[in-house]
Amino acid sequence: MKTEEIVSLSLKQLIALFFMVFYFYYKRFYLLFLWDSVKKFILSLRRRIPELISSFPYSICILPEELSSAALFLFNGSPRKLGFFRRLHLIAKFYIISLSIHCLHRQSEMFRVAGAILSIPSDAEGCVVEAGSYKGGSAAKLSLACKIAGRELVVFDSFEGFPEDDEFRDKPSRRIHAGSLAQRSDFFKNGMRGSLKEVKDNIEKFGSIESCKFAQGWFKDTMSGFNGKISVIYLDVDLASSAKTCLKYLYPLLEENGALFSHDGAFQPVIDVFDDDRFWENEVGFKKPAIEGLRKEKLVRIVKTAKA
Ligand SMILES: C[S@@+](CC[C@H](N)C(=O)[O-])C[C@H]1O[C@@H](n2cnc3c(N)ncnc32)[C@H](O)[C@@H]1O
Repeated sequence: MKTEEIVSLSLKQLIALFFMVFYFYYKRFYLLFLWDSVKKFILSLRRRIPELISSFPYSICILPEELSSAALFLFNGSPRKLGFFRRLHLIAKFYIISLSIHCLHRQSEMFRVAGAILSIPSDAEGCVVEAGSYKGGSAAKLSLACKIAGRELVVFDSFEGFPEDDEFRDKPSRRIHAGSLAQRSDFFKNGMRGSLKEVKDNIEKFGSIESCKFAQGWFKDTMSGFNGKISVIYLDVDLASSAKTCLKYLYPLLEENGALFSHDGAFQPVIDVFDDDRFWENEVGFKKPAIEGLRKEKLVRIVKTAKA
């Protein structure tokens, strides 16, 4: 390529080129191995001295992974035909949110859920539901996608943290839980608390508060009275008892072709709930559907078909 041609590349082409080269190198070549060793080293340090090593090195470690998923989000056209620069803008906002609010998810996971929201056909009915908001980081991101998609986001949480819980929590599988930002000590009554005010303030600052509704209280109380149609569900509740309640009350309201994501695919008790045929048939009222990523990934997905 001649120098004049390079100079004449538009900004959009340059960004596209950057992501393509990056993605190509990251996925195909051995840079990955080198990077993986650095990543393992930093993660092992973090496990040993979590107080000294904050989540910052972790964010650096997962950056290549995050960037490649950002590239996919940027270049995978959604039916909503969101322009390139609007997508880039959305990605930038997601990163600003992660830098400003303590979040317990990866950017790549949010890109997948936001992608599903942006792919809801405009003539399909149903709101978007998030169960489990903590400080409101994921809700702020999803609210931005909801604003673009013209959907309402209903946020369910106690806003007091977890309920009393004596669930036996098996060690999450390392392979799928590696680097989680949650600490074991977070799992006690009122752990992972984000107050309603905190969540609202965060969404007001960084997301789209006018797209949100809040359902405050324990899931068993708030969800049992909820009966709207739902197009996308995002569960991040950590406890099997909470996952059960969410599936029991929300799944029947999910529209055909709607998607349910669960961020709890690393917790054995939650995996057991998802995998329990009898629970699906007796308590949810549906045959156990196909669950993508179960036992393999932290973010699992169900797409509701006419049969399921
Ligand atoms: C892991 S945090 C959510 C993290 C958040 N989505 C993020 O990415 O930053 C789990 C949340 O679920 C809520 N939660 C769990 N079980 C609940 C229940 N039974 N009723 C109400 N809230 C519950 C907790 O209050 C907490 O805010």
